[in-house]
Amino acid sequence: MNKTAATFLILAFILMGVYACKDDDTIGDPEEVSYDAITAKFGATIDINNLPNYATQSIPAYITKDNTAGNEITDKGATLGRVLFYDKMLSVDNTVACATCHKQELAFSDADAASTGVNGTTGRHSMRLINTRFADEERFFWDERAATLEEQTTQPIQDHAEMGYSGNDGDPTLDDLILKLKAIDYYPEFFTYIYGDSEITEERIQNSLAQFIRSIQSFDSKYDEGRAAAPNNGSNFTNFTAAENAGKELFMAPPVFDNTGNRTSGGVGCNGCHRAPEFDIAPNSRNNGIIGTIGGGTDLSNTRSPTLRDVVNAAGSVNGLLMHNARFGALQGVLVHYNSIVDNQSLDNRLKPNGSPQRLNLTPSERQELVAFLGTLTGSDVYTNEKWSNPFE
Ligand code: HEC
Ligand code: HEC
Repeated sequence: MNKTAATFLILAFILMGVYACKDDDTIGDPEEVSYDAITAKFGATIDINNLPNYATQSIPAYITKDNTAGNEITDKGATLGRVLFYDKMLSVDNTVACATCHKQELAFSDADAASTGVNGTTGRHSMRLINTRFADEERFFWDERAATLEEQTTQPIQDHAEMGYSGNDGDPTLDDLILKLKAIDYYPEFFTYIYGDSEITEERIQNSLAQFIRSIQSFDSKYDEGRAAAPNNGSNFTNFTAAENAGKELFMAPPVFDNTGNRTSGGVGCNGCHRAPEFDIAPNSRNNGIIGTIGGGTDLSNTRSPTLRDVVNAAGSVNGLLMHNARFGALQGVLVHYNSIVDNQSLDNRLKPNGSPQRLNLTPSERQELVAFLGTLTGSDVYTNEKWSNPFE
């Protein structure tokens, strides 16, 4: 081959290379994109070229419930959700983030009975955000007023007391918040990174927040270890103490009642509503007899519970007070409640055998066994894994 031909070939290859690159760029990035603001703000906590795994975390084979319904978790979407979840700019005076009331060290609940937002306190107690994905119930909030998790996510932003973009009584609107986010340099970059263009919409905010929340999963508990090794949920778990196995049996088995609502034998029926192995609330549950409100009134509308996983921490202390009205600071109090239910017109029939509110007649050792079992539902990763932590720190 002579020199001219060789030069020609080399030039041709270079040109082909340039065209190939150009093609790729046109397809992938419709806009001129740089992620300098993301790198400047989150360089130490988020590496956009090496995101944590949110999309393909391992899920035990015995977990079958899933309410994802079309908004599949992606690593990019959940990363934007994480930033939004921890960003105080989502509140009118830049002081309150979702994480202000949903703290990772408390399984994403809050230590205060009523959480403090930008204009006062909440009417109900904050809820743990553990395994929200792994449930048949698609509705969210204690009273299930949000039809989906996606719908739920922008309601705190639009709540006057919580984050203040209600559009009522002089509050700015959600559109005002969107304009504000557009002017924060890292948001146009994040939306471009995830959605291909910098447009910020309520739907995109909802989808990414919901992906982040659904990614928060806890399957490294003692219960999971035992369940994975056992042929089924009903058999004795070899890694459990005798008290934990006895508590499991009490939790799972239905009670036998006489015709005045007194339990004479059997278990205590918790699993009828808090269903293993997800421990999600039965979608048809009605109220459980907890009807007082934090403010002192009565509220019969609460029919949802977060999963009972991580209801206590590894030391056995509650992750935030329990029930919608923060009534109990320990599981023993919860058992006193279920032991002797007070009737109301919306009480679930499962707690009202033969028309009389139940009397479980729990013995002290049965209570201890139930508390021991509930303690096995607690994991450890969810409290410390950086992928669910504050990216602003
Ligand atoms: C000022 C405190 C506060 C802030 C801020 C807050 N929350 Fe909440 N959150 C609560 C309370 C209280 C509840 C229960 C309210 C109810 O049921 O009426 C709740 C409930 C929820 C639930 C329902 C969980 C379930 O299992 O049904 C989700 C999901 C949630 N919050 C996500 C968020 C997101 C996302 C943000 C930020 C956009 C946010 N929260 C901001 C206090 C707060
Ligand atoms: C009829 C359905 C039903 C049965 C049976 C039932 N629960 Fe509940 N449980 C609920 C509902 C609904 C809530 C939410 C109550 C509220 O705050 O309004 C709840 C809340 C709880 C909570 C507090 C959760 C939180 O995040 O604050 C615990 C703990 C609990 N139940 C444990 C039990 C135990 C233990 C049993 C068995 C002795 C049991 N439950 C039986 C329906 C039921």
